[in-house]
Amino acid sequence: MKNFIGKLTIISGLLLVVLAGCSTASGSDSGEKETAQQPILIEGPMPIEAEKFADRLENVEEEKSGTFVFYKGTVDGYPVIVAKTGKGMENTAAATAVAIEKYNPAAIINQGTSGGHDPELEVFDIVLGKRTTNLGSLKTGDRDEGQGIEPTKWKPMDLMASEGSAGEDPNAEKIRYYKGDEDLLAAASSVKDTYKKGKVVEGTIGSADVWNNEVDRINWFHEKYGTSVEEMEGAAAAQIAKAYDVPFLGIRILSNNKTNDGEYNPDTAAANQEYVYEVVKEYISKLEDR
Ligand code: 5AD
Repeated sequence: MKNFIGKLTIISGLLLVVLAGCSTASGSDSGEKETAQQPILIEGPMPIEAEKFADRLENVEEEKSGTFVFYKGTVDGYPVIVAKTGKGMENTAAATAVAIEKYNPAAIINQGTSGGHDPELEVFDIVLGKRTTNLGSLKTGDRDEGQGIEPTKWKPMDLMASEGSAGEDPNAEKIRYYKGDEDLLAAASSVKDTYKKGKVVEGTIGSADVWNNEVDRINWFHEKYGTSVEEMEGAAAAQIAKAYDVPFLGIRILSNNKTNDGEYNPDTAAANQEYVYEVVKEYISKLEDR
């Protein structure tokens, strides 16, 4: 009898373990569903270019990695992370790689201010980066001592063209354009009309760790690369997004335009974030349909 009761206790004990196992499995299932939602990553270089968007997030938690700050929250219940990357190509490339490794984003928008290369564009107009390109990867002409410097003869150097010496590879002497993601572009286009402070156009964003104030040089980039605007981050983020195959779009507002005397206005940074917020809401609503 004792033996029988002992066996019964063991069996019911085992049953309990199995049942408990089942309930945790289903519990972690629903947990997994929540965490399986990949966040949208919104990047901004300077505090004025990131913090306005971060203020709009719900349920925000702040995380730091080096000098990069990640504001993790939600928009309409969907996870969105705002990254304050710092200025320039290196900060942006590193922050993008860290964010991809840590948060596995579904899409990346790099946004902020820029300087106009197109005289048709005014301060407060917004450029959606149908293409983004690096204006700083260049190879100079061959010139001996005393022959001077001729920047208009410099050739673009495609950093992604080959794994060998790009310096010797003629195939690398071309402009690399990173394409804006179609779904992000579609979301951005469909909320164009919500933006009242200027026009929203598709164009080419050029990036380098350089602020060009020479109008002839700006015109040279505009003609050779087709640039609408210049800034210091987009192409770095686009390059890393491409390396990891994450959908990417640059969205840049003109804060200044040397080609038509457009004076610098820092209020443009907030205006761009307001527009990008609308883009993100639209993208999320379509993401949930897909
Ligand atoms: N040239 C280069 N960068 C610019 N920025 C705004 N206007 C320009 C411009 N005309 C942005 C850069 C960088 C900061 C200096 O401002 O992206 O983050």
